[in-house]
Amino acid sequence: MEHKKLKDFSEDFLWGASTSAYQVEGGWDEDGKGPSVQDMAEHPENTSDFKTSIDHYHRYKEDIKLFSEMGLKAYRFSIAWSRILPKGFGEINHKGIEFYNNLINELLSYNIEPIVTMYHFDLPYSLEKKGGWSNYEIVDLFENYGKILFSNFGDRVKYWLTINEQNIMILNNKAVGIPNLSTKNPKKELYQQNHHMLLAQAKVMKLCHIMCPDAKIGPAPNIAYIYPASSDPEDVLAAQNFSSIRNWLYLDAAVFGRYNNTAWSYMKEKNITPNIKKGDEEILSEAKPDFIAFNYYSTITASKKPSFDFNTDQQGAAGEQGVYYITSNPNLEKTEFNWEIDPIGFRITLREISGRYNLPLLVSENGLGAFDKLEKGDVVNDDYRIDYLRKHIEQAKLAVTDGVQLIGYCPWSAIDLVSTHQGFKKRYGFIYVNRDEFDLKDLRRIRKKSFYWYKNVIKSNGKIL
Ligand code: BG6
Repeated sequence: MEHKKLKDFSEDFLWGASTSAYQVEGGWDEDGKGPSVQDMAEHPENTSDFKTSIDHYHRYKEDIKLFSEMGLKAYRFSIAWSRILPKGFGEINHKGIEFYNNLINELLSYNIEPIVTMYHFDLPYSLEKKGGWSNYEIVDLFENYGKILFSNFGDRVKYWLTINEQNIMILNNKAVGIPNLSTKNPKKELYQQNHHMLLAQAKVMKLCHIMCPDAKIGPAPNIAYIYPASSDPEDVLAAQNFSSIRNWLYLDAAVFGRYNNTAWSYMKEKNITPNIKKGDEEILSEAKPDFIAFNYYSTITASKKPSFDFNTDQQGAAGEQGVYYITSNPNLEKTEFNWEIDPIGFRITLREISGRYNLPLLVSENGLGAFDKLEKGDVVNDDYRIDYLRKHIEQAKLAVTDGVQLIGYCPWSAIDLVSTHQGFKKRYGFIYVNRDEFDLKDLRRIRKKSFYWYKNVIKSNGKIL
C-alpha cells in the first residue's frame, strides 16, 4: 500500500499557519478593548502573561508582510470577542472592528485567505462574572457576537471556525486558562457549559449560512486518535470510551446534531448530564458544518489500568477508574516538553475523521513547541521543527492518497507567541520574536530556518519537503 503513487495536494490547497488573538496581539486594554478571562488570569511566577504578547496589534503589517514572503496562502487567526464587544454584549467597539478590518484587508492585499476563529479561549471577563458558559444566556450572546462578525467581515471572510478546542476547555480547563468552577459538582457544570457551547456553535453555523451564503463554517476541536495500550479487549474498550468522551462527543454533536451514545451513557452513569431545555435538540439538529477543522499534536494511548509514567499536559486528561486511563506509548518519541510525536497517527486521525463524517477537513493546528536558540547573526536552526512538520506533511499526503478530502494545513504557529500555560520559552513559530519570558527586548522578528523550508514546501505545493 505504501508504494502506490501519491496524490498531489489540490491546486487551491490552503497552505497556511495559525495564531490566536490573546497569544499574539497584546494591546490588551487599548482602544476600548474589554478584559478577557486570559487578561485577568493568574500566572505562575515563572511564566509570562498575555498583556503584550508579541505586540501584533501594532505590528500586524510587518508580520503579514513576512507571512506573504513565506508564501502563505491562508492565515488562521482569532477575533477577540472583548475587542469587538468590551462587555461581551451591548455597545460595539468600533476601533475593534477597524482593527480586524485592517488586518483582513492587509491579508487580502497579499492574496492571503483569512481563516477566522470566532472564539479561542478568551471569553470577555464581564461575561465570566455573569456565570460565563454556565449561564444559558450566553448562547444568544454568542449568536449576537456572530451576527456582528458576519455583518462586518462576511463580505471578505470565506472560512469561519466556531470555537477553538471546545473539548480541551471541558476536559482540561485549567491548562487553557479557563477559570475555576464554583459549584459542588464541577464536572456537571462543565458539561452544562459544554452543552451551551454546542448550542452557541449550532446557532452561529446556521446564521453564517443565512448571512454569508458563500462562506463556509465548521467546528475546531482538538482530535487525537486513541490507541489501546494493548490488544486486551479491556484496553480497547478504554480507548473507545476515551475517544467517545474526548473526540466524538464534540464532532457528533457538531455534524449529526446529537450526543454520542457512549459519551452520553458515561455522563449518565456519573450523574453529570447537562440539563437540556425544550428546543435545544432542534437547535443542535438544524446546524450543518461545511467542513471539520481540527488541531492535531499527537495521538493518545488509553489503558484500563492507571499509569503514573506520563504527564498528559493539555492534550489528554489523567483518567477515570473503570472508564479509561492514559499511558505513554513506548513506540513514540517525545518533544522537549514531553508531548509525544506521532506523524503516522496524524494519517490515522485524518482517515478516522474522514471515515466517520465524510466532510472536507482542514488542519487548523499542528506543530512543535521547543526552546529555540537565537544564534549569532540572527540565525535559528530549528531542524527539529522542520523534521516534525515534514513527517506530518508526508503523512497528510498519504491520507490524501487514501481518499481524505483535505483542504488546508495551518501549522501552529505562524510566528512565536505566548503558549497557553508554558509562557514564551516554549516557541512554535516560523518567525522568531526577540523577547524573553519577562524581558520584552526589541520584539524584533527573525526568520527561522523553518521559515525558508516552509516557503519551499508551499512554492512546490508540497512536492519538495
Ligand atoms: C492548542 C491551542 O491547544 O495548542 C493553542 O489551540 C496552543 O492555543 C497550542 O498554544 C499549543 O499548546 P501550548 O500549551 O504549548 O501553548
